[in-house]
Amino acid sequence: MSQTRSNPNAASVEIRDLRKSFGDQKVLNGITFIVSHGRTVAVLGRSGTGKSVLLKLLVGLQAPDSGSIRVAGEEITGLDPYALNRIRKQMGFLFQQAALYDSLTVAQNVAFPLRNTTLSENDRQEKVRELLSSVGLKEEHFAKMPAEISGGMQKRVGLARALALDPAILLLDEPTAGLDPISAAEIGNLITELKRRRGITAVVVTHDIQGAKTFSDTLVLLNDGHLVAQGTFDDLRKSKNEFAARFLGNGDHVSNGR
Ligand SMILES: Nc1ncnc2c1ncn2[C@@H]1O[C@H](COP(=O)(O)OP(=O)(O)OP(=O)(O)O)[C@@H](O)[C@H]1O
Ligand SMILES: [Mg+2]
Repeated sequence: MSQTRSNPNAASVEIRDLRKSFGDQKVLNGITFIVSHGRTVAVLGRSGTGKSVLLKLLVGLQAPDSGSIRVAGEEITGLDPYALNRIRKQMGFLFQQAALYDSLTVAQNVAFPLRNTTLSENDRQEKVRELLSSVGLKEEHFAKMPAEISGGMQKRVGLARALALDPAILLLDEPTAGLDPISAAEIGNLITELKRRRGITAVVVTHDIQGAKTFSDTLVLLNDGHLVAQGTFDDLRKSKNEFAARFLGNGDHVSNGR
């Protein structure tokens, strides 16, 4: 391990001039931002604006056309699959659609990342129970198949699986989508707790603006392939950028002609 938790870069994520197109469609058109070690950044933007694509680039599931992505100080673009795998071990990833293995039970899904660890079978089961209860899932659901639980529960199982290897960096695609307001607030609290207790670095794509306000340190707002604003919730609300002010619901600000 070249990086340690005491290194301020240990779990930073730095994105510079990132570009990604699909055919003629320019989805990301020069995105630059930094997530410092131990910080949580919320990524906001309209549907179809490239938020999920951005997370897939960060985890190396897709390759950018150009630009740089540094994870814990190391450039990940152009890495071979073996090196990428090493970096990915530090990252927990929750897909927008939870993406559970549908032939494994809830508990087996969460145990899956632990299969190559040195944990004993008992410790593994205990860890799975802890993870599932930390995301608010009751024991009666542990033996169910993904098809037998609700969409919101699937999301929570996906989050528990993302946390299984105690990642230094967490990438979450809409962790609270499809959850009732109380469950959404619980997940928001869990993200805040992970930061406080474990100093985790997180990038959270969300449409939950109130959630983002509470669990993130800063927000970045994407529109039309560009990062149009970044800062704290209040920075964005007071932003001169009309789209940012409108997005965060500060209608007065906009109708007053900025
Ligand atoms: N593999 C792909 N091939 C072609 N086009 C793609 C691919 N992945 C994403 N896109 C396109 O990129 C654009 C951005 O998609 P993305 O899923 O990142 O949006 P999003 O911001 O996450 O939206 P939402 O808030 O609805 O989840 C969309 O127009 C989508 O059709
Ligand atoms: Mg998406």
